[in-house]
Amino acid sequence: MNLHSHFISSLQGVLTVPGDKSISHRAAILGGLAQGVTEVDNFLCSEDCLNTLRAMEQLGATVEVLEEREGYGPVRFRITGVAMKPAAPERPIDCGNSGTGMRLLAGMLAACPFDSEMFGDASLSSRPMGRIMQPLEQMGARIEARGAKPGCAPLFIRGGRVHPISYTLPMASAQVKSAILLAAMFADGVTTVRQPAITRDHTERLFRHFSVPCTVDGLTVSTQGPALPAAHDLTVPADISSAAFWMVAAASRPGSRLTLRQVGLNKTRNAVISALKRMGARMDIATTSPEDAGEPYGDITVYGSDSLHGTSLLPEEIPNLIDEIPILAVAGALGQGDFIVRNARELRVKETDRIATTAANLRLMGADVEEFDDGMVVHGGATLKGAELPSYGDHRIAMSFLVAGFSAQGDTVLADAECINTSYPGFERDLAQFL
Ligand code: S3P
Repeated sequence: MNLHSHFISSLQGVLTVPGDKSISHRAAILGGLAQGVTEVDNFLCSEDCLNTLRAMEQLGATVEVLEEREGYGPVRFRITGVAMKPAAPERPIDCGNSGTGMRLLAGMLAACPFDSEMFGDASLSSRPMGRIMQPLEQMGARIEARGAKPGCAPLFIRGGRVHPISYTLPMASAQVKSAILLAAMFADGVTTVRQPAITRDHTERLFRHFSVPCTVDGLTVSTQGPALPAAHDLTVPADISSAAFWMVAAASRPGSRLTLRQVGLNKTRNAVISALKRMGARMDIATTSPEDAGEPYGDITVYGSDSLHGTSLLPEEIPNLIDEIPILAVAGALGQGDFIVRNARELRVKETDRIATTAANLRLMGADVEEFDDGMVVHGGATLKGAELPSYGDHRIAMSFLVAGFSAQGDTVLADAECINTSYPGFERDLAQFL
């Protein structure tokens, strides 16, 4: 499917983007493991998160849809958990395109008393799984990566009793941290994970929401097993990573005024706001209280400007805004001066190599980009021109470049746009309201 965009003068209005992807995955897993019934509202019904929900069903959780939103999909679910006693799945588990789904589920399956198998699409089958296999094997699990590419899915997991570990993450990854913490819920004793930098802390917050012990001391996170999560309803805030496309869209079109409603403002995720402010974007944030499930959220109003300029992303910001770098690079191309990303080698092992795919599409639109092993420099100030662009099957690349089309001369055609459903069902309709 192709999606089109073209030059627009400004964006006005109010938009509510779908629920947070990271929190929805974790809500599905913890709700599915808990004792009792959890109602999750504003769940992200994207392919990634629905796959994780189906995986939990395969493991014995009961999932009922309580509410469907027209033209969008199911948003409110009732999950009856298995009280930490998942059943052996009858079939291999399909994780689709989702690294988060596969890595988090692997943590849980490593500690279950049965064998299981997980597979994914071509992109997921080329992403590194050694990063979770290593700590989970240290905990006592046996995991085989049987993919054509070494260290990659499909994964065969011989689950069983796991023991606590103390582990220092070699890279700043919330997925690896969470895989270990989920396995640790089944282990007898204290497991500790040390991070090289702060990574998103949704697992820690949801652990507390489900009454699972969790302590955080600077970069160190610990949990005490065995744990029995207690079911607890929650509402998922809107995904700041999805809101980021519209933040850049509005910030870069002078005269715009766009309010994004009920967006998650967790401080381990909101560096995209500070980066954009440094680039000259004007934004007002109205936080809502109380928090829901330990997650802060609020409304973000973005005002357009004709004076965006580049910035250097700070090394400590990289894990916080890693998913927003493609759309920030688009903002960099639209502003004056240099937009500099370094220390971001992790971008090369996302749904695509996002240094290569972002740079390739920016160049196709006429921007000047230098690529490095660990990042890129976008030399801003060129007038972007509409182009026929590939999505490379990467949802965030597809959305970033449809937004770039708002500031380009001529039409932009984005091919293979189905991948957007990975994280943002309803994007096409939201896009259409501005064209
Ligand atoms: C995620 C963590 C990040 C992020 C991904 C979601 C999560 O990946 O890029 O989209 O939900 O834990 P890493 O943990 O690999 O950095």
